[in-house]
Amino acid sequence: MYITHIQNKNTMQILARSRLHALSISLLCISLLIIPSSANNPTPARRPPRQLSVNYYAKSCPNLDQLVASVTSQQFKESPVSGPATIRLFFHDCFVEIVIQGCDASILISTKPGSRELAEKEAEDNKDLRTEGFDTVHKAKALVESKCPGAVSCSDILAIAARDFVHLAGGPYYQVKKGRWDGKFSKSTTVANNIPRANSTVDELLNLFASKGLSLQDMVVLSGAHTIGFAHCKQFVGRLYNYRGTKRPDPEMDPRLLKALRMSCPQFGGGAGVVAPFDVTTPFLFDHAYYGNLEGKLGLLASDQGLALDPRTGPVVRLLGKDKERFFEWFAVAMEKMGSVGVKRGRRHGERRRDCTVHVS
Ligand code: HEM
Repeated sequence: MYITHIQNKNTMQILARSRLHALSISLLCISLLIIPSSANNPTPARRPPRQLSVNYYAKSCPNLDQLVASVTSQQFKESPVSGPATIRLFFHDCFVEIVIQGCDASILISTKPGSRELAEKEAEDNKDLRTEGFDTVHKAKALVESKCPGAVSCSDILAIAARDFVHLAGGPYYQVKKGRWDGKFSKSTTVANNIPRANSTVDELLNLFASKGLSLQDMVVLSGAHTIGFAHCKQFVGRLYNYRGTKRPDPEMDPRLLKALRMSCPQFGGGAGVVAPFDVTTPFLFDHAYYGNLEGKLGLLASDQGLALDPRTGPVVRLLGKDKERFFEWFAVAMEKMGSVGVKRGRRHGERRRDCTVHVS
C-alpha cells in the first residue's frame, strides 16, 4: 500500500502509466492519492426530450468532434484525472433539472461578482468537482470558437468531451447526438435535491433516477462510471469506523479493503485532500471490474455496495460483472439517455454562450 502526493501533471501521467502496468496489483496495493482540490421502477411520465441529432453541426461546424478530440486527447495525456472529472461534470450538469435545467451547461456558469445568488457550481454537492473537467471544456470551447464562432453550445461540447474520455480510458465509443442549447439559469439552490449522495439508499437512488426518466437498469449501468476516478475520505469514512451508528465498520466491506482504507483515512483529523480509487483493481481503466468488485465487497461508497446487495439491482450487477460487451453497449445507450435530460432547443428556452462561464445578457 502506498500513498502518493501528486504535485504536477507529469507525475500524474507517470503514475497513470505505471498503474496501467500494475493492473495485476493486489488489493493491498490500493493507491491513495492527494490531488489538489480544485425500482423496479416504472419510468414516470415526462415530456419527451427534444430531438437531438448526430449531424446537427454538419454545416455550421463540420469538424466539431475532431476539434474537441484534439483537446481531450491532449488533456488525457497531460492529466488523466480530466477523464473522470469531465464525466462527473456532465452527470452533475444533466441531473440538476427542475423545469428549467438539465444538460445545459448551467454547471459551467460562474457566480456574478458581487451577486448574492450563487451559481450551480458553488453548491455544496458540486464543491469537489475537479477543475480539470472545467478546464477541458473551456479549452475545447476556445478552440471551437476560433474555427466556428458562435455556432456550438457549451452543453454539446461537454457531452462530446465526456464521451471522448470514456473512450480514451478504454470504454466504448458512441456517437453523440447534438443540438442542446445552453441554459439561461444557474442557481446553487437547485442542486441539493438532484444529486445522489454516497449514503443514499437504493430506494432513494431509484426514485431520483426515475425522476429523470432513467430506469433501474440505466442507474446500475451509469454507476459503472465509477470504474474510474476517486472519492475523498469523507465520502466513505463512516463505513470504516462507525457504520450507521453501530461503532463498527460496515460488515459489507472486505476486511483487506477496510484495513487499507483505514491506513489513509483516519477516523478524525485526516487530510481533506486524500482520495481513494473507486476501482481498486484498475483505477484508470474503463472496464467492467467495478461490478466484479461489488460482488467481492470491494465497493468504495455505501451507495455502490448497496447496488450489489439489493435484490432488484443485484442481478444487473452480477450480469454486468460477467459481460463487458453488454456493459459497454448499455453504457453508451444510457449515456445518450442521460444526455437528453431536460434538453433545450431554441432561443426561447436557451442561449448560445461564447464564454461558457457567463450568460448571454
Ligand atoms: C448512482 C449514484 C451516484 C452517487 C451516489 C455518486 C456519488 C459520487 C461521489 C460521492 C463521488 C466522489 C466525489 C469526491 O469525493 O470527489 C463520485 C465521483 C464520481 N462519479 Fe459518481 N455518483 C453516482 C453516479 C454517477 C454517475 C451516473 C456518473 C456518470 C455517468 C458518475 C461519475 C462519477 C465519476 C467519474 C467520479 C470520479 C470523479 C473524479 O475522480 O474526479 N457518478 N460520485
